[in-house]
Amino acid sequence: MSILAFPSPSLQIDGALLVKQLHELGEIGADPEVGGRTRIALTDDERAGRDLVVKWMRELDLDVGFDRIGNIFGTLRSDSDDGSRRPLMMGSHIDTVKNAGALDGCYGVLAGLAVVRAFRAAGTKPARSITVAAFTNEEGIRYQPDMMGSLVYAGGLSVEEALDTVGIDGTRLGDELSRIGYAGELEPGAIVPHEYLELHIEQGPILEAENIRIGVVESLKGISWQRITVQGNANHAGTTPTRLRHDAGWVAAAVQTFLRELAVSAGTTLATIGMLHIEPNVINVIPRKAVFTVDLRDPDELRLQDAEHRLAAFLVEVAEKEGVKISTERLVRFEPVVFNAQLADAIEASAEKMGFTHRRMTSGAGHDAQMIARIAPAAMIFVPSRGGVSHNPREHTDDGQLVDGANVLLDVVLKRLAA
Ligand code: GLV
Ligand code: MN
Ligand code: MN
Repeated sequence: MSILAFPSPSLQIDGALLVKQLHELGEIGADPEVGGRTRIALTDDERAGRDLVVKWMRELDLDVGFDRIGNIFGTLRSDSDDGSRRPLMMGSHIDTVKNAGALDGCYGVLAGLAVVRAFRAAGTKPARSITVAAFTNEEGIRYQPDMMGSLVYAGGLSVEEALDTVGIDGTRLGDELSRIGYAGELEPGAIVPHEYLELHIEQGPILEAENIRIGVVESLKGISWQRITVQGNANHAGTTPTRLRHDAGWVAAAVQTFLRELAVSAGTTLATIGMLHIEPNVINVIPRKAVFTVDLRDPDELRLQDAEHRLAAFLVEVAEKEGVKISTERLVRFEPVVFNAQLADAIEASAEKMGFTHRRMTSGAGHDAQMIARIAPAAMIFVPSRGGVSHNPREHTDDGQLVDGANVLLDVVLKRLAA
């Protein structure tokens, strides 16, 4: 740690406690075999994570509330709070992908609590109420779309539609939310933030490679998710000549190769097939069916549209050539977002004041800030990720870097409260 100027002589981040809580939350859903932890939205393990965060909110004597989509809010009220002034909000998520690191999302929520704790420890109240949010189902691996809690909160999806979402395991989201006891009564969006700040690990390689301490995130990429189903014909692997095959597995592989070439030629576009399922999935049978997902991302909306169009044209071409049927289902579509310039300037000024190297950047990961930016000025702060690794048990950021990021967050909060 190389803090040259702390945010305020009286308000301090308790870095040791922040790191301890990250470890403690990270124990929930731990997988000793594969590594990491798995706390998929609205499962029993995620409920245990929620319970712990809510316990910590109550220990800080925050006003704790849940909305109908299960978002969790803990508010430290200002003395003058009569409900008419919007709170400053910090937040992120505590759900995870499979075998995840301990930091993705959890860092932003627990650093928000560390900021609130600094006020409590100093015995002062903020000039404006501060709310820490943990949004439901940011990862979107069980129920799509991702960033669902913050999307509903921002009015981009009705709560009824979200509750009716059926997951990849056939469960209804609303039933699971009630089952784990987090179907709250607040209407999503009832608390409109004055401003929103999200601290997060970078999940990419840039800060580490450039030896930079703080990322000032000024934009996020657009995200396009689809599910593609290829219907071919099963047949005997040993007797069916290649020219007579309608091989759904081969078509899936051809799409994957096409997407890699598209990504390489487009430069900024990223393309991933993360889920692939073939039937009957047997060694000596030509696959009759392939179902796979496509994740496309680009910082530029027109280039993202171009990638979608090129993929659609390729699907028509390959279906015709191979004699298969291809259908597509849209799962997620978010346009790129440019964050609030004033907040980005404030983050940059705090990093500069505290003596941390910093740079402006964009990110390709989905974040709740992307949704909240629809209803309030928003921006994000990044700290480095070792090796650029995330969505992986090896995700790591040094403790000192985590504490530095929380100190920047506290400094920005203090500045915005004074503005
Ligand atoms: C969530 O982390 C995503 O970017 O998909
Ligand atoms: Mn995240
Ligand atoms: Mn994630």
